[in-house]
Amino acid sequence: MSRHDSLKYTPRAIALHWLLALLILCLMMVGFTMTDLPKGPDSPRGMVFNWHKTFGMIAGLLILYRYWWRSKNPPPILPPEVPQWEVRLANVSHRLLYLCMFVMPLSGYLASNFHPKQYGVKLFNSESLKMEAWGGPNEQLHELLSGTHYIVAYILAALITLHVVAAFKHMLGDGGVFRRMIP
Ligand code: HEM
Ligand code: HEM
Repeated sequence: MSRHDSLKYTPRAIALHWLLALLILCLMMVGFTMTDLPKGPDSPRGMVFNWHKTFGMIAGLLILYRYWWRSKNPPPILPPEVPQWEVRLANVSHRLLYLCMFVMPLSGYLASNFHPKQYGVKLFNSESLKMEAWGGPNEQLHELLSGTHYIVAYILAALITLHVVAAFKHMLGDGGVFRRMIP
């Protein structure tokens, strides 16, 4: 057992991290490409949007669960040899990642809710979620929320890039910090 092993994330935190990383990366790739799909009755656009919304909602629930569980099970402290500035940067960037992870599903869901054409959210491409609870179509709110979804998507992409670069830096170093997040 290396001395880093006592500072590892728990198996549940590791499973949630990798499941959500995969889900979010797929949502980002599909999100950025689906908006270029042509409109029209023969286009898969509507179906792809519905799958994006479905998995976006699933990701949202998993993110809430992960955050709730993390509040009861704080993450392990970083090894003492990691410089203070890196500890602070890791804390800030993890907080920002969580913030973006909350904003993305919420803004996507609410933007769909206020869409002037009321496409709504069709879960698994069939079951429509009831949207009336949040109010009917609203052009301004829709613009604001889909603009938020769009801008935060780029912020999240930048944070993930920084995060992955930091992870690889640690993997190429002594590997200790990277091993904290693998089973
Ligand atoms: C969508 C992609 C990703 C997101 C949103 C994400 C998010 C996060 C968050 C929020 C944490 C902090 C966990 C906590 O303290 O609760 C974390 C930790 C970590 N992530 Fe990611 N991650 C992603 C992808 C990746 C990838 C691709 C790698 C590796 C190449 C990676 C490696 C790590 C490592 C090593 C840690 C532990 C850092 C430490 O020990 O402090 N992550 N990630
Ligand atoms: C973690 C969850 C999510 C991620 C990472 C994500 C990511 C993205 C990305 C990268 C885009 C392309 C940028 C843009 O045009 O805004 C996008 C577009 C979109 N997303 Fe999401 N999304 C998530 C959740 C959701 C949810 C829950 C819904 C709705 C219930 C949703 C509905 C949409 C819609 C309708 C668009 C197209 C926007 C347009 O037509 O301009 N997303 N998403």
